[in-house]
Amino acid sequence: MVHGKKLDLFNTMNDVYKLLLYVDYSIQYKYLVRENFNFKSMKALVLKKDFSLELSDIPKPVIGPKEVLIQLKASALNHRELWIQKGLYPGMSLPCVLGADGAGVVTEVGSSVNPEWISKEVIIYPAYDWGSNEDAPTRKFRVLGMPDPGTISEYIKIPEANLVEKPSYLSFEQAAAIPVAGLTAWRALVKHGQLTEHKSVLITGIGGGVAQAGLGLAKAFRAKVYVTSSSQTKIDQAIAQGASGGVLYTDPDWNIQLKELSGGIDIVLDSSPSPILDDYYKFLNYGARIVTYGSTGAPKTTINISKFFLRHIQFIGTAMGSVADFKALIQFMEKHKIKPSIHASYPLGQAIQAMDALREGKQIGKIVINHSS
Ligand SMILES: NC(=O)c1ccc[n+]([C@@H]2O[C@H](COP(=O)([O-])OP(=O)(O)OC[C@H]3O[C@@H](n4cnc5c(N)ncnc54)[C@H](OP(=O)(O)O)[C@@H]3O)[C@@H](O)[C@H]2O)c1
Repeated sequence: MVHGKKLDLFNTMNDVYKLLLYVDYSIQYKYLVRENFNFKSMKALVLKKDFSLELSDIPKPVIGPKEVLIQLKASALNHRELWIQKGLYPGMSLPCVLGADGAGVVTEVGSSVNPEWISKEVIIYPAYDWGSNEDAPTRKFRVLGMPDPGTISEYIKIPEANLVEKPSYLSFEQAAAIPVAGLTAWRALVKHGQLTEHKSVLITGIGGGVAQAGLGLAKAFRAKVYVTSSSQTKIDQAIAQGASGGVLYTDPDWNIQLKELSGGIDIVLDSSPSPILDDYYKFLNYGARIVTYGSTGAPKTTINISKFFLRHIQFIGTAMGSVADFKALIQFMEKHKIKPSIHASYPLGQAIQAMDALREGKQIGKIVINHSS
């Protein structure tokens, strides 16, 4: 009866859905919900309040007039999920369905949505509220999968504005491997890095998803790409993918080795500028751009300012991108038939094991989750 009273307070199905994410799933509760409201449930990877992961049965989302329901065929993991699980992501709000990357089929559309989307195969633009300024997002900008429900789930509801048609040359797994990593690498290299043919590009930590996406894009631009990694095997694999060479960032003199190898770098696509940023001038060309999208190595660093301004070096921050960036990325990938690099695929039932693999960090490229297997 206590549960029944609580539920009376909520007027809409959406409020009930939010409530369900905030309670533990006791047998009595599940019974109450399923029997009294006849909810359809679905499987989803939920990060609970105590930071443990659970493949839970939760209610299938109910769409509003401007939303669509997508049956997800595949999703993919990003380092972001690890930050969230450590409680180190801004705006923590748990429990939540994890996952920002996803591709699937539109199964329902709201009353204000173009019905032609029904049955279309789509990739999801992985964020909300960029706003109308292409130079930077609004303060409300946020990525799917905390605080909003994410993609490691059988279904997701999203606004029509987040839909992009999946190019037919990509499988669902390949499509799901693109959004966060591809969008981040695209905006970093193209808008901020001003990438053009023959530029000399350094991509740090080539095992990472964004780094791998950057390699594919930079090669399509006919840039000369150098990489760093903690692993010689990953450097060798990057060379097999078209990189011109690489050095181990674990070597103390890696910056000198890189200068000798490359002759000088114009653009850095960087997940980890700290704590070693101060040494970058040793391999950067005059007028170089360091575009950073992460702080994997350490959150803070110091630099000798004059070494940077006298060389006209720019240090630029970036995070994800706008819907327009995403559409441009997918168009470019389709034109060049670029396929994302996939390290491993897990069935949805093994999503927790997929997270364990991401944490281990042995991957080169994306870890994807197949929702059909
Ligand atoms: N700003 C944004 O919009 C945005 C978007 C996506 C990701 N990110 C951030 O970017 C980082 C990478 O994300 P991801 O999803 O691509 O990661 P990921 O697939 O989990 O891979 C992480 C990679 O970081 C590299 N790495 C670890 N320590 C390093 C160090 N000290 N120096 C250089 N590289 C190091 C490793 O490369 P090796 O294995 O080759 O050593 C590893 O493969 C994370 O911090 C993430 O939060 C930011």
